[in-house]
Amino acid sequence: MSVSSQQPDITSCPLHEVDTFSADFLQDPHPFYRRLREEAPAFRDPKNNVVYVSTYDLAMEVLAKPRVFSNKFGAQLRAGAAGGEMSQEELAILAKGWVPKDTMLTADPPEHTRYKKLAGKAFTYRKVIGMNDYVTGIVHDLIDGFIGDGRCEFKTQFANLLPMYVICDALGFPRADRERFKEWSDAFTLQLGGVADMKTRLWCAEKIVEAQHYFVAICDEKRNNPGEDICSDLVQTDLEEEGGARKLSNEELISIIQQILVAGNETTSHTLTTGIFYLLTHPEQKARLEADPSLTENFVEETLRMLTPTNNMWRVATQDAEVGGVAVKQGDLLLLRFGSANRDDAHFPDGDRFDITRDNAKEHLAFGAGVHLCLGQQLARKEMQTAFPIVLSRLNNMQLVEAPESFSYVPSILLRGVERLDLTFDPA
Ligand code: HEM
Repeated sequence: MSVSSQQPDITSCPLHEVDTFSADFLQDPHPFYRRLREEAPAFRDPKNNVVYVSTYDLAMEVLAKPRVFSNKFGAQLRAGAAGGEMSQEELAILAKGWVPKDTMLTADPPEHTRYKKLAGKAFTYRKVIGMNDYVTGIVHDLIDGFIGDGRCEFKTQFANLLPMYVICDALGFPRADRERFKEWSDAFTLQLGGVADMKTRLWCAEKIVEAQHYFVAICDEKRNNPGEDICSDLVQTDLEEEGGARKLSNEELISIIQQILVAGNETTSHTLTTGIFYLLTHPEQKARLEADPSLTENFVEETLRMLTPTNNMWRVATQDAEVGGVAVKQGDLLLLRFGSANRDDAHFPDGDRFDITRDNAKEHLAFGAGVHLCLGQQLARKEMQTAFPIVLSRLNNMQLVEAPESFSYVPSILLRGVERLDLTFDPA
């Protein structure tokens, strides 16, 4: 996708003229991020009245104050961050489902702490370490499915499927329903973006209600026939409260399951796809990695830093405050620009350079920081650290089908990654 002629030159025009929610802008926001870091590390965009936080230090400052900069942005986004109330039609669709409780991503301490502890039991380091052979098996099975062809579209044939299979198995959901899960993920992500048009919002509402009924039906089934999976654990678990212990409600179950299903799919898929893209467009880095596979862990971290699949995330001010010299009023929305913080030269020297030997790559904010630090970070790392070496060793002589300039990124406000990756390789 090329930058349209209507767009001002984002490298020189006044900052407020840039439409940062437009599809063209989202193809390459980095020149603008650089300007934000240099000219206005905290910047109130007058078009949408959102405050952008763009440097590493300022992002850390905001992340360290969850009581002032809250994650309870759910209701605001459901109503549309760019303004506007829910339409009657949208409300009518949503009335057929449940109003999910704010549990992890859209909750604050102390409720947040209780739910995260509960869900965290499924993703402990020890559990994830034990998944080595299992993840290796899925990676080989997926590659077996296309290696004889000598070509593939890596995102749909591999990168979307690995995290989807892992999360379906963990939740106790049938893999066969993955097309539906993908649609539901898209709907939840669009809703979280907060700027979808009404037609899209209605589609999202339909899909979200469909997902909720599916989740509740699965939970009912697991109450009667529990298995070794997260849904079975969640329906049986007791939530400790002041008045005593109780089971989770449907509103709580829906919220937790939805987040586990959605949060790790697109993000991990984008990192797998774009990691291969980075290697093929930086052959000297690929050669280094192949010569020294012990660099795999750092390569994964550097890919997470450079790409930052969760490029932006919301916060809402609970009180009047100040960020980087900008006054923030209670109720204001902030956009934490993780993708910009991760290229901040003050923290990552020569931040736009892809370098798999970078000393401090792991200090990136791709998984966030503070109380909302990603629940699935160990799992995502396990999938990527397992997948990349196998892909590199089995797909010999990998080549891009298209020229690197023709690649496009998904036009999402929150997520970032290349849309598709057509490859050729020597058939085995
Ligand atoms: C490369 C893959 C991933 C990336 C880049 C990523 C990124 C993030 C980020 C940036 C946050 C913090 C959001 C904030 O500060 O408000 C987060 C939170 C979260 N992530 Fe991930 N994530 C990934 C994989 C996963 C996986 C595999 C799962 C599920 C198993 C998962 C589940 C969650 C959940 C539930 C939260 C909310 C945690 C909380 O609010 O305390 N993520 N993730």
